[in-house]
Amino acid sequence: MFDFDQIHDRRASDCYKWNRYPDDVLPLWVADMDFMSPPEVLKALESRVEHGIFGYGDPDPELTELIVQRLDQRYGWRVKPEHIVYQPGVGSALNTACKAIGEPGDGVVVQTPVYPPFLSAVAYQNRRLMVNPLKAVVNERELRYEIDFDHFTQVMDDRTRLFMLCNPQNPTGRVFNEDELIRMADVCMAKGVVMCSDEIHCELLLEQRPHRPLAALSPEIADRTITFMAPSKTFNLAGLRLSFAVVQNADLRKRLVQAARGLVASPDILAYPAARAAYGSGEPWLKALLEYLRANRNHVTEFLRTALPQLRSTVPEATFLTWIDCREADIPGDPYRFFVDQARLALNDGQTFGPGGEGFVRLNFGCPRQTLDQALTRMYSALRR
Ligand SMILES: Cc1ncc(COP(=O)(O)O)c(C=O)c1O
Repeated sequence: MFDFDQIHDRRASDCYKWNRYPDDVLPLWVADMDFMSPPEVLKALESRVEHGIFGYGDPDPELTELIVQRLDQRYGWRVKPEHIVYQPGVGSALNTACKAIGEPGDGVVVQTPVYPPFLSAVAYQNRRLMVNPLKAVVNERELRYEIDFDHFTQVMDDRTRLFMLCNPQNPTGRVFNEDELIRMADVCMAKGVVMCSDEIHCELLLEQRPHRPLAALSPEIADRTITFMAPSKTFNLAGLRLSFAVVQNADLRKRLVQAARGLVASPDILAYPAARAAYGSGEPWLKALLEYLRANRNHVTEFLRTALPQLRSTVPEATFLTWIDCREADIPGDPYRFFVDQARLALNDGQTFGPGGEGFVRLNFGCPRQTLDQALTRMYSALRR
């Protein structure tokens, strides 16, 4: 019913992913997918474009209502429409959260390796980066990341104001369980640290286990937490620039809104009908997408295990990203450069994900199987040479 195998030429579409490298380089880097959005979203956009006027926008209450219902249906998380704050993306929202909480010089805890703007937001907002590295656990060739709770507690000092969590975690693909979330929240609450939970990947679940929003775990946690979500990863709408924060505590919400004033624009006018259509009628497409992504994930895992055992990789529980340890592969120099130069394959450079990312690359399998196979073949040939 939905054709995820179809190859689309994205080069002529103002596309960051496909235009950043020379034409002979296959791009499996930045986290958007090479799939068309759901047909309902395309229809909603077409009819909005037909209207022909694209002045300043204001979100329709119907979208807010869809979000409120979705959070209740998926997670039993009851929030009110006034708890939702629209934003033009989670990347800039991470900066807004850093700016909103504490003062210059105050500490912000992040767990690395992590989506690079977690690190740059701390630097851009003149906060002090406090790193709690995730612990890599190796089981045969499979990599899995766990939280170092002892270090998490120790790393905080009396000027730590904010903990920025990435869950599901990019790049490790972990979906933290309730026990892990509660333990992290307990430490933060005991130390008076505000929590900011980036849950942008929370609908891209590859296992049967559910996602638990941090703020949904208790009213006390909700009272100290800012949550970021979006339809953008789920429905491949990242270029339309719409995300939202859920902030139940009125004071935190006010601080977040104030920090954005004069600096952060509103979402794109076309994002509103797209998001309404995605949340309103995108479920069958999403179900099919998840099946496709699961099969791609299993395919990458199997290929790396059997054909390239010198690489070790995660088996992501969510996202469309595999995190690959190249340190035992005898690659001359930096693996990211090696794959661009020798395999003509653009992956993400692990170093940009902070401590623990050196010697790693991140591969985006949100693409047709044929593209994925080309990438794997290129990796294989380059490593065999
Ligand atoms: C964990 C995480 N947060 C935020 C973003 C960026 O979100 P946005 O496009 O809404 O700025 C990404 C994109 O890859 C991501 O992986």
